[in-house]
Amino acid sequence: MVAELVDGFGRVHRDLRISVTDRCNFRCQYCMPEEGMQWRDRADLLTFEEITRVARIMVERYGVSSIRLTGGEPLVRARLPLLVEQLASLGVDLAMTTNGVSLPLLAEELRAAGLQRVNISLDSLRADRFTELTRRDDLPRVLDGVESALAAGFDPVKVNVVVMKGINDDEVLDFAEWGRRMGVVVRFIEFMPLDADERWDRSLVLSQQEIVATLEEAYDLEPIERSSAPATRWRYRDGGGEVGVVATVSESFCESCDRVRITADGQFRSCLFATEETDVRALLRDGSSDDVVAEALERTVAAKWAGHQIDQVHFIRPRRSMSEIGG
Ligand code: GTP
Ligand code: 5AD
Ligand code: SF4
Repeated sequence: MVAELVDGFGRVHRDLRISVTDRCNFRCQYCMPEEGMQWRDRADLLTFEEITRVARIMVERYGVSSIRLTGGEPLVRARLPLLVEQLASLGVDLAMTTNGVSLPLLAEELRAAGLQRVNISLDSLRADRFTELTRRDDLPRVLDGVESALAAGFDPVKVNVVVMKGINDDEVLDFAEWGRRMGVVVRFIEFMPLDADERWDRSLVLSQQEIVATLEEAYDLEPIERSSAPATRWRYRDGGGEVGVVATVSESFCESCDRVRITADGQFRSCLFATEETDVRALLRDGSSDDVVAEALERTVAAKWAGHQIDQVHFIRPRRSMSEIGG
């Protein structure tokens, strides 16, 4: 390897998250506005060839070893298995974060194309609440999607549950029990200030400490050593599998972050909460060489900040909401 994507704090970046579309067939309350979401034009989105070119530069020059496809909802993008096939040929750990609703149709095809893992977002196991949260009446299809992912051989299948106080915090134990029964890894996610309607408030965040206290009412947990990934993990001591928490708000893990992101319209971001982006699409479209693209990537990562500072008075929300950044 010739170089590293390293920032001023010595953090080396090897995990690339690619948003393939800003569109979604759900409109989760904590992510998209109820109305007035402006989708980007097709021509604004990076093509599969452009995406693969940036990914190849990062893999070949900087040893990027894992790529995750996100959205909006990645499976809304037509012919996605084709992109999966192109990226799989780079020899990286390739995963996708999806709302799961299209998995009954696509799980097998994605697996055959070379996708290795899926993470499925699901915030309630109660049909009425699910519909209220996602503004779509599709709990049965998402549950089917989880089963299809398992049947297609994805391993592990992880389920992301964004927990909000007074909204779905009474389902922590239901989810734990369901995850154990299904054989999926449930991860509880602290609600982050990236919702389009700007309703986020500290008082809505169920903290990792509160989540774990609830889990421990019913189960004996043993911590698993932390990696650079955002989740803190525990094993059920009775052999019932694993559970995790992504504690962005209460216990920031920015010091071990190794992630960079590219949005569907080709903007390169060095942090989920970054307020500045680098227009890589312009370089991909103006005939710039790989060297020039690579230099822009290096410069962006070099300028990365220490972390998000959600709790500080000077915290500034990014202009884009989660659905546009890709989670
Ligand atoms: P794996 O553990 O490798 O499966 O991936 P992951 O946990 O990174 O993936 P996933 O896309 O399922 O993300 C789970 C949650 O973590 C989502 O709510 C993401 O928004 C959040 N998340 C992912 N990456 C970051 C990050 O760099 N910073 C912060 N603060 N949160 C992140
Ligand atoms: N806070 C925390 N997690 C969020 N996600 C979307 N919006 C938010 C938010 N405001 C999660 C989704 C999905 C992942 C990509 O990000 O549920 O699992
Ligand atoms: Fe769509 Fe995912 Fe956002 Fe929900 S969280 S609106 S499923 S992109």
